[in-house]
Amino acid sequence: MDAIDVIRAKRDGDRLSAEQIRWVIAAYTDGRVPDEQMSALLMAVFFRGMDGDELAVWTQSMIDSGVRKDLSSLGRPTADKHSTGGVGDKITLPLAPLVAACGVAVPQLSGRGLGHTGGTLDKLEAIPGWRASLTDAEYIGQLRDVGAVICAAGNDLAPADKLLYALRDVTGTVESIPLIASSIMSKKIAEGADALVLDVKTGSGAFMRDTDDARTLARTMVGLGTAAGVRTVALVTAMDRPLGRAAGNAVEVAESVEVLAGGGPADVVELTLALAREMLAGVGRSDVDPAEVLASGRAMDAWRAMIAAQGGDPDAALPQPRERHVVTAPATGTLTRLDAYAVGVAAWRLGAGRARKEDPVSASAGVVWHAGVGEQVTAGQPLLELHTDDAARLPRALEALEGAVGVDTDDVLLPLVLERIT
Ligand code: URA
Repeated sequence: MDAIDVIRAKRDGDRLSAEQIRWVIAAYTDGRVPDEQMSALLMAVFFRGMDGDELAVWTQSMIDSGVRKDLSSLGRPTADKHSTGGVGDKITLPLAPLVAACGVAVPQLSGRGLGHTGGTLDKLEAIPGWRASLTDAEYIGQLRDVGAVICAAGNDLAPADKLLYALRDVTGTVESIPLIASSIMSKKIAEGADALVLDVKTGSGAFMRDTDDARTLARTMVGLGTAAGVRTVALVTAMDRPLGRAAGNAVEVAESVEVLAGGGPADVVELTLALAREMLAGVGRSDVDPAEVLASGRAMDAWRAMIAAQGGDPDAALPQPRERHVVTAPATGTLTRLDAYAVGVAAWRLGAGRARKEDPVSASAGVVWHAGVGEQVTAGQPLLELHTDDAARLPRALEALEGAVGVDTDDVLLPLVLERIT
């Protein structure tokens, strides 16, 4: 087989055969196909797309580049959730222990943040002592004993995706629905859960700003999961405004703990419960009411056990910023707009996020808002609080927030879950 033939075929709009796809993914993973040829093929896929059969083989080949985990020895149903990423999206933190407390194991292999969206591992690393890397034995042991693990994926999980994602990042080929769907689903299918719930975000702070694109991505991923034997559903959810009241690392951990303690912002509670219900339904446990389990305190117990099992101290004080800067409400009325992308960029510039994979992040940096969209504000009241360890970061963060806030006399209708896709 020759990479040039595969590139030419896709460039000219032909269907790739299963054999061609299996060969090119395997040969790229072990270094026989160089980056320049894979870049050309990715660009051809970007413009020509892939049909359902091609995409299924492409995804399976990415899974086959590593191992598909077998969690059957747990003797318990397993379910996971994946979000396409947003601002203030800390849902995994309360959700994993909640679902574990409902009797379903949650094997959550997570990533770090890049750009304006936060990463689950970065958030949890704000907890003193907590570590993201576990051995296979620790991972399985924790799933058995605690029922929930949130940790970094090992090198054996879809290694082709690590290489392809890094290449897409520098060749302008990230924004392709088949390439995104295969990237996400290869990792999630390889993780080995029985059921998967996808939270596909749409709006300014999302990867897919346009709702039609988000819907197409959701349908494509549900199709891939279902074909691979994983019961998969997707919720398309709003990311035009940030979730909850905080975006950053320590601030999002604090908010998640509030939710587990029975409080927290209404939208975070609503989405956590909606996703928990889907995860439970996916493994035939709709008889369990996650709202009751949350109220009982058992989800908090599972959280404490999950954090402690990974070396974290659930009672430790979270890092505090050296500098806080308050932005006041510009007028009296209803907060009609708080732009998710602007808040995400501000949190990133304050130090909560990274521009390159190897950059460090600040645990205490972030943005906190004192009113959510749809709520009343009074001119001059504190509206946003910017947290950072480095005052020199404030001007550029404030620049990102210019025009991000709208106050008016309108009523705002705010559906959070826009669509359910099966
Ligand atoms: N997240 C992934 O894991 N892959 C993509 O391609 C995009 C987002």
